[in-house]
Parts: sequence; structure tokens; C-alpha cells
Amino acid sequence: MARMASPAQLGYPAAPNRVGKRRVITAPRHLLQIEGMHPPQIDTMLDLAESYVLLNRSGTTQRDLLRGRTLINLFFEDSTRTRTSFELAGKRLGADVINMSVSTSSVNKGETLLDTAATLNAMNCDLLVVRHGQSGAPNLLAQKVDAAVINAGDGTHEHPTQALLDALTIRRRKGRLEGLVVAICGDVLHSRVARSNIHLLGTMGCRVRVVAPPTLIPNQAERLGVDVFHNMKDGLQDADVVMMLRLQRERMSGAGSLVPSPREYFRFWGLDAEKLAFAKDDAIVMHPGPMNRGVEIDSAIADDPVRSVIREQVEMGVAVRMAVLDLLARSNRRND
Ligand code: ASP
Ligand code: CP
Repeated sequence: MARMASPAQLGYPAAPNRVGKRRVITAPRHLLQIEGMHPPQIDTMLDLAESYVLLNRSGTTQRDLLRGRTLINLFFEDSTRTRTSFELAGKRLGADVINMSVSTSSVNKGETLLDTAATLNAMNCDLLVVRHGQSGAPNLLAQKVDAAVINAGDGTHEHPTQALLDALTIRRRKGRLEGLVVAICGDVLHSRVARSNIHLLGTMGCRVRVVAPPTLIPNQAERLGVDVFHNMKDGLQDADVVMMLRLQRERMSGAGSLVPSPREYFRFWGLDAEKLAFAKDDAIVMHPGPMNRGVEIDSAIADDPVRSVIREQVEMGVAVRMAVLDLLARSNRRND
């Protein structure tokens, strides 16, 4: 198998770190958010992930890369895709992977998040993948532990690996990111997926729109550099990419006031063939999952083999997480 390029060969990271004319190469210690990342850093991760797509499709694994390293999945919120793909990614790179079951852990006896993390840290964990309901929880942990911390979704804040896998999916389908019109539709207010995608796609030169009823758009959304639309016809007009979001009912208190009934919501905001016709003829349809069919998306669209790239997003998720583990492990080498 061909040797993987080093972060330096990949030109990581971006321009801001310069000494005279020389670019200083420093790989990240943690992956906490997309906000603040620069295009070359994002390109580096996507390029490395691309090489992992090819590797995965060839059926080859690279079990020596993370041999002797320990990855702990610490999920305080439910997950199917993210937790499983981090586990697969870690195992394909040779790490020892532990999935901590929070629901049967000492968290139930009152142990705090910080004490839990400190305990795992004392076991010499190298990579800590954290999903938590509180925005900022992974950032807090990153200040307290030696392990590299990866944010697997924190409250309504960010879900950085989701945005990276979405970008990889778009780039593979469209050949580029720059100049594409991307419509992010649905519960933008509560969506960490939307926030990470807004930062990443905006940074990479996409024209990002958010399309939702006013109750599901954050205050002053325009400050994030997006165009705001309150109907699907205008919002989807000539879009290259249509990204649908699930209604995050678990983050709504008094949901009745924010959204109508599921049937009513689908009528105005659910993606069906009629609404998709407003987008470009070759527009692709995305969804981070889990989907609520018949609420934000019609089954016929979700399962359309030509327009829907939802399954491909899941495949890209494994490759992106392998790339992230690879880069962080290189920059967090223990003195062993
Ligand atoms: N799975 C994604 C997340 O955890 C999206 C969703 O749950 O709707 O943010
Ligand atoms: N897209 C995503 O994060 O899915 P899970 O919640 O199943 O991990």
C-alpha cells in the first residue's frame, strides 16, 4: 500500500502561521469546531479523507498507524452513525477502541463530566471522542485532559466531522465546493450540523442559504454570512445542493409554538418532488440522518438513487473520521 502523506506534505495548516516566508506546519491538537478553520486546513482533511475512501473501497486496512493507541467513545447523547463510524475508523487504523456506555456508567452515581474524563485520561487514553448535550462540553474537556478531544456533536453548537463528511460528499459529486449554491433547510435553529456546515461551506466559497420558518432560524442569522429564505420555492431556486435537517424536538421546549403538526410541516417545508423541482436539475439531496420520513423529507426523494446522496454521506463518514484520527494521532504523539 502507498504510504500516506505527512501533514507537512499535505501543507497543513493554513497561511496564518508564517515565520518570514516559511510556512510553519502545526497539526491540530483537538478537533472541536469548524469555526476558525482555514481553507488549507479543510482541504488537507478532505484530501486525506479522499485517500481513505479509496483505501476502504479496496478493502485494505492500515492497522499499524494507531497500533498501541486507545480511542474512547464517550457519548452522552444517542448516536448510530457517528459512534459506529468512529469505532470502525479507529479499528481500521489499528487502535484499541472502547465504547463507554454512559447509561451504565458511574455518571449515574453522580460523577461529573470532568471527573469522568479525568478518570479515562488516567488510563492513558489517546483519543477521546465526545458527544454531549451541552454546547462547549468538548472544549472544556480539551482544557483538562491530555488526550486529543474530538467533538462528535455538542448541543446546538457544532458537529465538525459531519460538516467534513458533507463537504467531501459534495466535492466528490460536484468536483468542487467554490461557487456552489447550498440550501440548508429545516430546523436550523437547533442544528449543530447546520452551524458546522455554514462555517465550512462559507469558508470554502459556497453561497449558503438557510430556508425555514422564522421560528426555526437563529436570530441575526445573516451575521453568519448566509442568505435567509422563508419559503422553499425561493430558497431552493437554482440550488446545487439541498440539505435537509431533522426537527430537533429533543431541543425544543414547548415545541407546539415553534412548529405546526408534522403533516402541516411536511406540506410547507418537507422535501418532495414538487419542491425539489425548484432546484437545479442535477441538484443533489443530502440529510445527516437520522431521517424522519414524511416530516422533513419524502421517502421517494430520500431513496432516489440519482438525486439522494444520503447513503454516500454515511460512507464518507468513515473515511473522514479515519483522516481526523490519523491527523490528530500524528500531532499528539506520546513519548513512548
Ligand atoms: N445526527 C445529527 C446530530 O446529532 C443530526 C440529527 O440528529 O438530526 O446532530
Ligand atoms: N448524523 C449523525 O450524527 O448521526 P447520529 O446521530 O446517528 O450519530
